[in-house]
Amino acid sequence: METVGVGIIGAGGIAAAHAKAYQMLGAKAHLIGVADIDEDRARAFARRYEIPVWSTEDEDILKRDDIQVVSLCLPHHLHAPVAIAALQAGKHVLVEKPLAISLEEADAMIRAAQKAKRRLSVVFQLRFESDVQRARLILERGLIGAPFYAEASCLWWRRPMYYENTWRGKWATEGGGAVINQAVHHLDLLIYLLGMPQRVYAEIDTVAHQIEVEDWCLATLYWDGLKTSFCASTCAELETDSSRLLILGAHGSLQMFPFRPHSRHEERHLQIGEACRAIPEQETPGHTAEIHDFVHSVLENREPRVSATEGRRALELITAIYQSAFTHEVVHLPLATDSPCYTTAGKLEMARRYTASRAKRS
Ligand SMILES: NC(=O)c1ccc[n+]([C@@H]2O[C@H](COP(=O)([O-])OP(=O)(O)OC[C@H]3O[C@@H](n4cnc5c(N)ncnc54)[C@H](O)[C@@H]3O)[C@@H](O)[C@H]2O)c1
Repeated sequence: METVGVGIIGAGGIAAAHAKAYQMLGAKAHLIGVADIDEDRARAFARRYEIPVWSTEDEDILKRDDIQVVSLCLPHHLHAPVAIAALQAGKHVLVEKPLAISLEEADAMIRAAQKAKRRLSVVFQLRFESDVQRARLILERGLIGAPFYAEASCLWWRRPMYYENTWRGKWATEGGGAVINQAVHHLDLLIYLLGMPQRVYAEIDTVAHQIEVEDWCLATLYWDGLKTSFCASTCAELETDSSRLLILGAHGSLQMFPFRPHSRHEERHLQIGEACRAIPEQETPGHTAEIHDFVHSVLENREPRVSATEGRRALELITAIYQSAFTHEVVHLPLATDSPCYTTAGKLEMARRYTASRAKRS
């Protein structure tokens, strides 16, 4: 295959990043269709990005033989059903983060991709940033020694208007709040750099918004010999949103964002510099780089750099964080299929009970 036809389902806030990235691929990708239940939005998006077909029906995109790749830019609860329908229609599917709202849904999506023999991937654009690649290489080469402490914080602010968009702020449709929507990126980076933790203890709260889900989370994540303090927020009224990732190792440290690797040992310091220079500066933003990789994975019949399994891992950690917050207990990973938040129904029931008990206390 030398070129792919592309459809975009969901033409809201993030869809523009997808359209622009596909356009930059020139002859390798052609935007053929866009669907959104909001007719004006679908029509305007098609006009802006010169997409010949627009519709209010997802099916109009999925039934077309000239579309091989679809980007799903949809509310979280629609990721699984629309991805499964797209895979069954023979499309390769790139889903915006998070992969789904429950592990049950994620597993059904992965099974559908295997059955259809199609690619399924999730957007974790930070993995494509040069500094993230550099951090990974420094850790792989052991240049800061064994990590013993990390901090990951997503101190962001979202205006109340953000939650007026009806799917957000609700367990059934957003699947959670700051943890699953915003800090999913930070959790994915922790997994990418340090692997999957073994256990989690978390608390969540709703501090500044009139929403069902959390706008604040504080958690401790445990690996053998390494503890991480994690917080996620959409209620941090800072002048600008702040993200931080810090890893302390026995012989040095890594900080992001901005990226500042450090070791007091001269030899290690030089090797860190070498590792940084080994990774060239990324020319396009993360979203573009990931979308280009996905299209190339289809054209070259290879795995994309971010597999659906990676999306599942971040979702498993998120699920463990919520389970711990709901039960006030330490949760061990991996989560079994009979763990209380594995299914969507189980997670929603746990969230309902948690919300009811919180309402009684206040
Ligand atoms: N990777 C990132 O950094 C990043 C940033 C922002 C959003 N996102 C993700 O992108 C996704 C969409 O978020 P958004 O902010 O663009 O939301 P949005 O509400 O702005 O857009 C969603 C669009 O989907 C449409 N829609 C709803 N149901 C539909 C259906 N059945 N078929 C077709 N269209 C339908 C809505 O009308 C809306 O236009 C979410 O998963 C979100 O987490 C990712």
